[in-house]
Amino acid sequence: MRSAKDFFAPLAVGAPAPVREIPARPSRAIHFFDPGNPKMAAKVPDMVGKVDVLLGNLEDAIKADSKVAAREGLVRIGQETKGLGGPGASTQLWTRINALDSPWVLDDLLTLVPAIGHKLDVIMVPKVQGAEDIQYVDRLLAQLEAKAGLERPILVHAILETARGVANVEEICGASPRMQGLSLGPADLAADRRMKTTRVGGGHPGYLVRQDPPRGEDGAAQVDAQRTTYQQDLWHYTIARMVDACAMHGIYPYYGPFGDIADVVACEDQFRNAFLLGCVGTWSLHPKQIAIANRVFSPSVEDIAHARRVVAAMGDGTGAVMLDGKMEDDASLKQCLVLVELAEQLAAIDPELKQQYDAIDAPTGQEA
Ligand code: GLV
Ligand code: MG
Repeated sequence: MRSAKDFFAPLAVGAPAPVREIPARPSRAIHFFDPGNPKMAAKVPDMVGKVDVLLGNLEDAIKADSKVAAREGLVRIGQETKGLGGPGASTQLWTRINALDSPWVLDDLLTLVPAIGHKLDVIMVPKVQGAEDIQYVDRLLAQLEAKAGLERPILVHAILETARGVANVEEICGASPRMQGLSLGPADLAADRRMKTTRVGGGHPGYLVRQDPPRGEDGAAQVDAQRTTYQQDLWHYTIARMVDACAMHGIYPYYGPFGDIADVVACEDQFRNAFLLGCVGTWSLHPKQIAIANRVFSPSVEDIAHARRVVAAMGDGTGAVMLDGKMEDDASLKQCLVLVELAEQLAAIDPELKQQYDAIDAPTGQEA
């Protein structure tokens, strides 16, 4: 057992003190790119300021013989790109390192921390199985940060993509003060659980519920009649667990990849489900998913107008009021404050959104 008092002591002599709170930095889209691909790397400077997070991917989707080029490319990008990564940067710099049992991960960390540790905001660790994986990375990062003389700890984000990881999700979230958040990894998770979908995220037409059959005059069910079916969300259970585990530990949940790049409509639906359930952002695998994520993970002007009205109407925050025939009370005020606070954080980094939120009429607090 570890004493609560030790939790915030650095894990290596000379390492920066662990953070006590994970800052709520907007991270609606975590845009993945291959840092070893010269075409993608060339686009990075132009994306700074236009996307909340740029993530240099070193893991899956990077071929084995390109792993070193990706790592070296990320070092170059981290060192040379202005406004990318580190405190106050307009776009955060994250990376996804290789899996902890892979032949590349040690060199990923030994290279990245000394070279661009001061720029790296978050390290995403894939295929996390339990607290022990986070504790390994935690200690190693502390040693490397101490050696590199870093002044601020690098945060850690785990991908939830194994059955054991899901079973251990609460202990993973609480394994280190570095834990920043969790993403759903639907592809690896589906494989590990032996689910039968071959899609990367999103729904499946076979996973559905069907309306009850109509009855004939004799009262018998007409099972062959035309009946409406409703496609269900394969990921609802996992996202809901992830959201609770993150909220319990004061860290942030994210949807993961949506692989059908052409189906921007279903992508938007899946992102919105995650937003409504409590996620703060998602991955983007293609530039067109950035716009979708920014739209979905920013509260709508209508929602903010309503939330501000409730805040104004509730005065000192106690009791209940009627607005448009609906009851509002202390609890619904808290729901509204979640949206208002998020809008304030987003307005601070997104001038277009700020303009839209500022244009909302000052709330009267009066019943309409
Ligand atoms: C992401 O890494 C996934 O496996 O879906
Ligand atoms: Mg994966």
